[in-house]
Amino acid sequence: MLLTFVDTLPNGDEKGIYYALDLGGTDFRVLQVQLGGRRSSILPHSVEQQSIPQDLMTSTSEDLFDFIATSLKEFVERKENSSGYSPEKRRELGFTVSFPVKQTSVSSGILMRWTRGFAIHDTVGKDIAESLQLALTRNGLNMRVVVLVNDTVGTLALGHYHDPDTVASVVIGTGTNACYVERTDAIIKCQGLVTTSGFMVVNMEWGSFWSSHLPRTSYDIDLDAESPNPNEQGFEKMISGMYLGEIVRRVILRMSQESDIFSAFSSKLSIPFILRTPLMAAMHEDNSPDLREVDEKWRQMLEVPEVPKKVRKLIVKVCDIVTRRAARLAAAGIVGILKKTGRDGGSITGSRSRGDARMRRTVVAIEGSLYTSYTMFREYLHEALREILGEDIAQHLVLEVTEDGSGLGAALLAASHSSTPLPPNT
Ligand code: GLC
Repeated sequence: MLLTFVDTLPNGDEKGIYYALDLGGTDFRVLQVQLGGRRSSILPHSVEQQSIPQDLMTSTSEDLFDFIATSLKEFVERKENSSGYSPEKRRELGFTVSFPVKQTSVSSGILMRWTRGFAIHDTVGKDIAESLQLALTRNGLNMRVVVLVNDTVGTLALGHYHDPDTVASVVIGTGTNACYVERTDAIIKCQGLVTTSGFMVVNMEWGSFWSSHLPRTSYDIDLDAESPNPNEQGFEKMISGMYLGEIVRRVILRMSQESDIFSAFSSKLSIPFILRTPLMAAMHEDNSPDLREVDEKWRQMLEVPEVPKKVRKLIVKVCDIVTRRAARLAAAGIVGILKKTGRDGGSITGSRSRGDARMRRTVVAIEGSLYTSYTMFREYLHEALREILGEDIAQHLVLEVTEDGSGLGAALLAASHSSTPLPPNT
């Protein structure tokens, strides 16, 4: 539960040209967004994506940010060339960092740790926005980091721009996380801090949620122990795209060791992460006769001869169980937000039934390939929401897919916070 200092969400009135930098993994993206002051379903923008060279991913903070700043500067020059690039012009940037950051103001924050395999040790414990700001100045780009946000916060901002009933957002992709709008007086960490709007967005970092009530199997325990970040991101390791295929691999490996049904299997099954989640999804959703796709994919991956039909079915079954569990856990997380904010129907008292006509429409912006591209995952998530909330309440909940909240949303937030940044948390 991290403070974001974001106390204003875009409402469509934003005007001007803003930039965004999205750092979420091995690639980073730069965006220029033009806002016309009138909400439009299409936000005119340009995006460029670049991968971070392997050596920079384990190098120093300065090397990484110099590289990013140079690329950003080149991008700005290209974009502004036609209208006459001026080095003096002041530009404003929304910086998205999809890693846990302990914010100290809306535009500054300490990187707590890398997740999902990234590792530049001297960035941890430092103000990541300041590292970027210094690199921008060093490289002669006149640009101010106006907001530092998590990808979920960008997603919420984009969702809210399109639909003011949006009060939370969820990302379920390589990693998973959520954020939501909370009353400042309900946030313990906010004590003594007043925001003009009376609310603040909370970055839940739910990927690191843990509870002894969360049933963990031996596969989860082993996966965690052998991961580069043991005892961290426990919820994420049961839900997100980085891990689902790996859980399936571990289950099937154990089955192959303990029964002769998988006797023809190759030792390749012992290779961690050989089964990626997109492949798992393709096998799980195989509609071909006799599960031919499963056979083909499994053979290609492990270099084994034909897979018997009953084994194909077993593979699909394991994928199904692992995905269903993940989707149900994510649904439980969403319901947690609704409960905390009194939007689960529970706050309606008296004799009125759940599903009361006064129930507020609640929109949750959602992004991430697991939700958008893995149909079974999405269906199980919806099913679980209906099951936990009941049909009456669930009908007031809209999961709205947004596209590129981490980029566009950051630019929108730069716009909505450009003139009224919150004071640092002192
Ligand atoms: C990881 C990061 C989190 C991010 C999420 C989704 O859990 O820690 O900050 O929001 O992935 O990208």
